[in-house]
This record gives sequence, C-alpha cells and structure tokens, in this order.
Amino acid sequence: MLIDTHAHLNFKAYKDDFEQVVKRCQKKKMSVVNIGAQFSTSKRAADFAQKYDFMYAAIGLHPIHIFDEIYEAEAYQNLIHDKVVAIGETGFDYYHVDEILTKGAKSIEEISNKQQEVFLQHLKLAKKNDLALICHGRNGVEGREVYSEMLEILKQEKVERAVFHCYGGDLTIAEKIVENGYYIGIDGPVTFQKKAEEIQKIATEIPLENILIETDCPYLSPEPHRGKRNEPIYVKYVAEKIAELKKISKEEVIEQMWQNAKELFRI
Ligand code: NI
Repeated sequence: MLIDTHAHLNFKAYKDDFEQVVKRCQKKKMSVVNIGAQFSTSKRAADFAQKYDFMYAAIGLHPIHIFDEIYEAEAYQNLIHDKVVAIGETGFDYYHVDEILTKGAKSIEEISNKQQEVFLQHLKLAKKNDLALICHGRNGVEGREVYSEMLEILKQEKVERAVFHCYGGDLTIAEKIVENGYYIGIDGPVTFQKKAEEIQKIATEIPLENILIETDCPYLSPEPHRGKRNEPIYVKYVAEKIAELKKISKEEVIEQMWQNAKELFRI
C-alpha cells in the first residue's frame, strides 16, 4: 500500500479544497500520516486520524515554533489516542535562525539550547507512550551538524524508533543513522534534476529497509509538479525515483515502504 509518512493536510494550505485532496488519496487507496508543527495543527492531525480510516497522526512542536508558543507536555499527552503513532516533528533547525531571532530569541546559542530542551521533552513523551519519534533537522550554522547532533542524543537516550525526516545530511551520517536502526525520510527533492546528487546517492546506497517515503506537503513537490503545492498522492514520484535509482520495481519499493512504516509506527 502506498503511504505518505509525512504530510501536513492539517495546514492552512488545504483549507479551500481539503475534501478534494482527501478524495484523491482515497481513490489511490493510500495511507497518510499527518504531522503537527504546533499545538493547533497537532490537534487537527489527531482529529483527522479519528475521522478518516486512512489517516494517522504525529503530534509535536516544530523547532521553528518554540518561541511562538510554550510546549506543554500534558496538553500534548491529552491528544494521544490509538491512531496517534508518533511524536514530532521535533529537532534542530539552524536554517531558520534569522526568522527565530525575530520571535524573541536573543542568540543562536539560546535557540540551540531551547531546541535541545524541547527535543528532549518530546523524546520523553514518545518514551512514556511507546511511540516513534519524528526528527526534523536543517543545517545552516557554520560548524554545527544537526543530524549528527540528533543522532548522538537518540543514542544517548536509547531511543528505539525514530525517523530523520526529509533528510538533508550527507551519506556518511546517513550510514551511521541506519547502523543505529533508524530511518531516513526521503522527499520530493530526490526527483530534482539539480542539486540532488547527495540525496540520490543516499537513496541508492542505503538499504531499502531503512527508507521511508514522504511528501512534506504542501512543500517540496517532486518533479513533474515542482514549484506547485504538493499533496500526498505525489509520494508515488518519490517511490518511482527510488525504484529507478535502486534498479528495482516501483511495486517492490511501495511494498517495502509500507512494511517499514508499519514497523516504525506499529500500524
Ligand atoms: Ni514537515
């Protein structure tokens, strides 16, 4: 079964035609995991999962939003039900530091410390409820490498199930992530014609058993829809590209992606 393991149908981008987007997913008989980025969108993701059979949810406060609102563990705890399958997205974002500095943070160090504090709180919630963790990372500050920083924390805290969503690091770190039993999330950029060498190399080299396919919609539309709003059905282009790179069939990729998602999220 086709699955988009990282979608944001809970975002405003779908407010005008949500029902049509849902119908297109249903026609494809696919599954979708909607991911929260703030409390409001986490609640919406959890509500959707209750309403629609094919949807699951993850709840969390995205690292770019940690100065917009306070993370309250109990409020998130109260959102959890059977179809909330993960905590996140959470992690480190050094790409948007300028934007976060306008929201009350005083220095990059303060941002990094706060992101770490909130990341650890998410990790605790995931452990407490025996849920997977969805890690968001984005590099952008000289001398800091978010993916290895997150990996060290996951190892230290003995996190068992996690995905490095929309992976943007290099192959060496990806191999370490995989050695530790975690997943690499691959998105639309793997289909791009330019600046996609590293992620294509990663998709080729790392085992299929450690990959998840995602859209991160409404962002990051794959070719041939690049530049337009993304949606879950387009995850098939990511599967097709991985099949092409690994020289296997699209059906084999889609089936293994479903098995991987079932294993990570216990669905
Ligand atoms: Ni996302």
